[in-house]
Amino acid sequence: MKNGTRIAVIGVGAVGSTAAYTLLLRERMDELVLIDANHDKAVGDALDMNHGLPFLGKSKVWAGTFEDCRSADIIVIAAGAAQQPGETRIALLQRNISIFESVIDEILKYNTHGILLVASNPVDIMSYFSWKRSGWPSNRVIGTGTLLDSARFRYLIGSHLDIDPRSVHAHIVGEHGDSELPLWSLANIAGMEPELTEDVKETIFNNTKDAAYQIIQAKGATYYAIALAIDRICTAILRNEGSVLNVSTLLNNYEDISDIYIGVPCVVDRQGVRSVVKLDISDGERILLQRSAAKLKGIVSSIS
Ligand code: LAC
Repeated sequence: MKNGTRIAVIGVGAVGSTAAYTLLLRERMDELVLIDANHDKAVGDALDMNHGLPFLGKSKVWAGTFEDCRSADIIVIAAGAAQQPGETRIALLQRNISIFESVIDEILKYNTHGILLVASNPVDIMSYFSWKRSGWPSNRVIGTGTLLDSARFRYLIGSHLDIDPRSVHAHIVGEHGDSELPLWSLANIAGMEPELTEDVKETIFNNTKDAAYQIIQAKGATYYAIALAIDRICTAILRNEGSVLNVSTLLNNYEDISDIYIGVPCVVDRQGVRSVVKLDISDGERILLQRSAAKLKGIVSSIS
């Protein structure tokens, strides 16, 4: 029996476990259930988090099974293989597709009206696969998309200009991966274009795009910033915010792109993705976005 809001996290590896802890620290939900093929890991995480509750608010945390997805408001899927040093996100595809086949089928046994939030890579393809396999309306199947990339982009611009990244408005769109692109034409600080040379812009974008490779090389995995991105999306949903977040969603007739999941600015509220924000971008940016979509569609056609 659910008592208040419930988030289920499937896959408590580095990303899932850190996301669960972040959601708990920020008291986002009433109930948090941890599910993993390695049940002992989920049990250990739940015990460890419960012991911190005297320092936090009232939340219920437990290691569960897919049956606990019943009546979950949000189901975060962070299950699957993670990138190894130098490995692309696309290289994880086949391993994670086979994991997702059973994960989605199990979820469907118990939940019909929740929101799926996919974090596993390659996230755009895994989101598209989750949408197809679940048969749920696309607004309720969301990928973390380029929200993390956009955060990295805003941080790097802010660091260069000594401006709080919260005051830097800038978007990375496209694949959460090597074909992502910066919307420099829309980047602004209080409506003004940031004063950056072309060389600085190139360095900032390359450091954004390659950030995960750098972090994985240094410490083996990324998890803190992606966990905060997952928390941001969950908050926008549970609080019915209507916030604009660069999540991965199904596009149809958007900049001549259709039938693919890709990262673009979306209005996110209690129903999931309410709408996709129409962008006034340059011809060059449009071409790069279409190329990114074409890359993803080519990969999707290889698994269909
Ligand atoms: C990264 C992982 C989440 O970009 O793909 O850190």
